[in-house]
Amino acid sequence: MAKQPNKQDPETTGHSWDGIEEFNNPLPRWWLWTFYATIFWGIIYTIAYPAWPLVNKATAGLLGYSTRAEVANDIQSFADANAEIEAKLAAADLTTVSDDPELQSYARNAGAAVFRTNCSQCHGSGAAGSKGYPNLLDDDWLWGGDIEAIAHTVRHGIRNETDEAHYSQMPAFGEILSDEEIAQAVAYVQKLSGQDADAALAAAGETVFLDNCAACHMEDGTGDRAQGAPNLTDAIWLYGGDEATLTETITNSRFGVMPAWGPRLSDAEVNAVAAYVHQLGGGE
Ligand code: HEC
Ligand code: HEC
Repeated sequence: MAKQPNKQDPETTGHSWDGIEEFNNPLPRWWLWTFYATIFWGIIYTIAYPAWPLVNKATAGLLGYSTRAEVANDIQSFADANAEIEAKLAAADLTTVSDDPELQSYARNAGAAVFRTNCSQCHGSGAAGSKGYPNLLDDDWLWGGDIEAIAHTVRHGIRNETDEAHYSQMPAFGEILSDEEIAQAVAYVQKLSGQDADAALAAAGETVFLDNCAACHMEDGTGDRAQGAPNLTDAIWLYGGDEATLTETITNSRFGVMPAWGPRLSDAEVNAVAAYVHQLGGGE
């Protein structure tokens, strides 16, 4: 049986669950006023700041605030702060950048940022490269490792569509030599790089090499930077020095392509990234 209301009890809402009733107390004042204040604040906020979605954009707000504008301002103020040193770097004689500690350190930091964004997807975040993408940390250079050569490679790229790119093409010897001659050349290249190789094959391979390969890789196999022909004696491989990879390289050739960065980066950025790569360890 439901409990009869007693005179002292406050009013109830009349709801009852399993005999439990709900008092109809007024909301606490402080709570109510805070609630009104948040509504008021909400209205003011949506008038002052971008808030209400419209068809293409949102209401702009009376204060004209925008996070995009804030980012643009920040970027602009960094650009302004760096404009002077960037102009200096763009015009610098690269061989003397290391004489100016301030310029050198700016170039290294800016270059590291350029590298992370534009180069690491091919050369690796630590610049150690991978198959077909050269390691930029060692002192083995395909096209040259002094700072100006590096800047030239970066600016114009390799085997791309642009006019000043480095260009060379190793023939696919599968169409020129017999399988036996290719096996001989493979053995000779293995011997050149200090690996174990079948002595008879390697001896025959020397003739094949001098007749077909020396024009680019040089008679002693140390390569030619003017043609980007790798040194085959140093056991540092762009594609690989095992028998299967060498056979594949010599039979079908390779065609490593790097984009030209001159059209995409500013002169200061090209110089910065060249200085960065140069000081990674292998720079000449
Ligand atoms: C799309 C891939 C790709 C990107 C991105 C790329 N490279 Fe390369 N890079 C290559 C390849 C492939 C080669 C080697 C080409 C060859 O076989 O000669 C190379 C070669 C080089 C060389 C010559 C190394 C040597 O031994 O002479 C340098 C220096 C270099 N890259 C620097 C950079 C820098 C700096 C960037 C960023 C601005 C960059 N690369 C971005 C693919 C790339
Ligand atoms: C016209 C010049 C030219 C000739 C001739 C030539 N090469 Fe090459 N070779 C190159 C170039 C350039 C590369 C680099 C290709 C690339 O990175 O795309 C290369 C790459 C290689 C590589 C890959 C090295 C590595 O680090 O992975 C091997 C091995 C090689 N050549 C062997 C030979 C042999 C053996 C012959 C003769 C049968 C030969 N080449 C003839 C220009 C030449």
